[in-house]
This record gives sequence, C-alpha cells and structure tokens, in this order.
Amino acid sequence: MSDHELRVSKIRNGTVIDHVEGGQALNVLAILGIDGSEGLGVSVVMNVPSDRLGRKDVVKVEGRELSQSEVDVLSLIAPEATINIIREFEVAEKNRVTRPDTVSGVLSCPNRNCITNAGEPVETRFDVVADGVRCDYCSTILRTDIAEHIDV
Ligand code: CTP
Ligand code: ZN
Repeated sequence: MSDHELRVSKIRNGTVIDHVEGGQALNVLAILGIDGSEGLGVSVVMNVPSDRLGRKDVVKVEGRELSQSEVDVLSLIAPEATINIIREFEVAEKNRVTRPDTVSGVLSCPNRNCITNAGEPVETRFDVVADGVRCDYCSTILRTDIAEHIDV
C-alpha cells in the first residue's frame, strides 16, 4: 500500500485482523468483547477496496492478542480473515483462520427451551455447518446473528 492510501497508523504491539468481509468489523469487535470501555487502542477500517475480497474491513487492537476460541468464532463470520500478531511494529505471526468442526462453550443457543438454557451444567456445543452453526442438543441453527450469541 502506498503512503497516500494508508488509512490508519501501524501499531506497535497487538493484533491486526485483516481481510474481514466488508461490513463485519463491528461483529468482530463484539466477538472480542470490545466496546471501547476497556481503554484499548482500536482502529477500524470498513469497506476499503481489496483485491481478494472486493471490499474488506480491518480491525487493529493494540496491546491484546486473541485466544483460540475467539479465533474460532471469528472464522465463522470472517472465513478469509488473516490474524497478524504485531510485536515492536513487526508482523511477528500471520495466520489464516480455519473453520473448526465444532465450537464448545462460546456460543449460547437462541432456543429458550434448549437444555443448555435450563440452568443445567451442560456446556453448549455447536456443529459448524455450511450455512451457520447448529446446536448439538436441539438442532437450532444460528446464521448471521452469531455475534449476538457469544458467551465468552
Ligand atoms: N500492520 C499494522 N502495524 C504494524 C504492522 C502491520 O497495523 N506494525 C498491519 C498492516 O497495515 C496490514 C496488516 O497489519 O493491514 C498486515 O501487515 P503486512 O503483512 O505487512 O501487510 P500485507 O503484506 O499487505 O499483508 P497480507 O499479505 O496478509 O495481505
Ligand atoms: Zn440448543
């Protein structure tokens, strides 16, 4: 990217989530549990041109690295995302997200009658399917509203 195209500063330490599907950046922040009150430096770029995706979002979070369960859920809304770990201004690690087969203990089931919502010690578990994730217990499918059902 040439200088006149650079939209936000490079960061010193933290995580850059790049190649997020255009329009999904706020859902990425929701999945990470970031609403600004933490005081972390956060930069969000939305709907910038991308060779690969047509348009993309980029989220930069300073001073924070991501857990595997966060990355797993991110993969569901941003399957093409690249997770760049930045240390002292350098890209120390670059990883593509991969879609897991299941996600356990991170999403809540939207079905009020599901056993996972009955106050029993049952951990949620969803199978990742083509059009979303499916509750193992009641088969309810979560599609676009995944970010609203994060439990972590
Ligand atoms: N980045 C940043 N701060 C740094 C280093 C990199 O914010 N100190 C950002 C870049 O702006 C870019 C992403 O992290 O959005 C990845 O950086 P880099 O690998 O240098 O860019 P590309 O080669 O364009 O990445 P890719 O090949 O994954 O498209
Ligand atoms: Zn369920």
